Amino acid sequence: MKSALIAGITGQDGSYLAEFLLDKGYKVYGMRRRTSTPNYENVQHIKDQIEWISGDLTDLASLIEAVRISDPDEVYNLAAQSYVAASWPQPILTGNITALSVTNMLEAVRIVKPTARFYQASSSEMFGKVMEIPQKETTPFYPRSPYGVAKVYGHWITVNYRESFDMFACSGILFNHESPRRGLEFVTRKVTDGVARIKLGLQNELRLGNLDAQRDWGFAGDYVKAMWLMLQQNEPDDYVISTEETHSVRELLEVAFSYVGLNYTDYVVIDPKFVRPAEVDLLIGDCSKAKKKLGWKQEVSFVQLIRMMVDEDLKRVQAEARYMNVMALS
Ligand code: NAP
Ligand code: GDD
Repeated sequence: MKSALIAGITGQDGSYLAEFLLDKGYKVYGMRRRTSTPNYENVQHIKDQIEWISGDLTDLASLIEAVRISDPDEVYNLAAQSYVAASWPQPILTGNITALSVTNMLEAVRIVKPTARFYQASSSEMFGKVMEIPQKETTPFYPRSPYGVAKVYGHWITVNYRESFDMFACSGILFNHESPRRGLEFVTRKVTDGVARIKLGLQNELRLGNLDAQRDWGFAGDYVKAMWLMLQQNEPDDYVISTEETHSVRELLEVAFSYVGLNYTDYVVIDPKFVRPAEVDLLIGDCSKAKKKLGWKQEVSFVQLIRMMVDEDLKRVQAEARYMNVMALS
């Protein structure tokens, strides 16, 4: 039985990856940071199948212990301060967690189990003010946020450990990927949650920032398979994972609102609070290397993804509203 250590298992990708590896028969160790209120929402359904280890990305001793306990064949570093907008008000925290702590993870692996295969969650946000359309593995980086800058560090330190210590370290340059488990502050989920609330009469407007930004949005469940595939190859390498399509926030609104029979222009309000100090205007990835070498391809289209998210949010918001009504009557 193979074993895997996942840092960031409570997040969107960590939860899908854990499901995927459990299905493949892996022993899955999940590293989570201690919090006063436990946050198992995304992994509640598989919580008992996971071996839990307490650790924080900023604490090397805890990472060394996590690698020692799990003795992993594969290590997936998905943990990060992952919200771009939060990286301006908290640039140092973002640098400590999203950049420097990648070295902590790599050091823990190098010291305790240098033969383990390592995956680093790199990001299309590194392309920022894009130097080439579409973006591929060789496109130069031009990050536009403290988060993007931090991810560039994480990417290069992963490449550096591969080249310096002969470690099997891969960097997956993943374009935006979403799901019903996406955090509520990210634009897709903010929209699908807003659509559900508006449709159910619980909200009458949705406040957003730049509607012209374009992203290459895929389904997280498809993308975790690519992470695993990277670690099954004969040689470590870096890969772009994307859908090769781009859509604006405006198109996202059209798809989500029209699905429930509404017109987004009746509800969306532009709020400068959500406009970023520097924007990434357009992302679209060329993932031909991953298609060819990994045999990876996306299964869920953009429209299917957004409709899936709206459906799940309608169910959840309806259940919450019913519960509140029962509580109010009791
Ligand atoms: P996410 O939902 O925000 O999950 C982030 C995870 O990191 C959570 O489990 C979080 O734990 C954990 N974490 C944060 N700080 C930590 C710390 N100091 N120590 C230990 N764990 C910590 O992110 P995601 O969407 O799943 O993305 C996974 C990774 O891929 C991230 O590195 C992200 O930057 C990168 N990425 C994401 C996308 C995308 O579109 N989703 C695209 C490219 C790259 P808590 O639950 O305790 O907060
Ligand atoms: N979050 C948010 N909220 N974004 C908005 C809003 C709003 O109210 N209004 C417009 N947007 C625009 C943002 O300005 C951005 O251009 C786009 O919607 C997408 O924003 P997010 O969903 O927050 O994602 P992101 O592209 O900044 O970052 C995500 O993808 C990266 C990969 O490219 C995150 O998952 C990162 O962790 C990931 O690395």
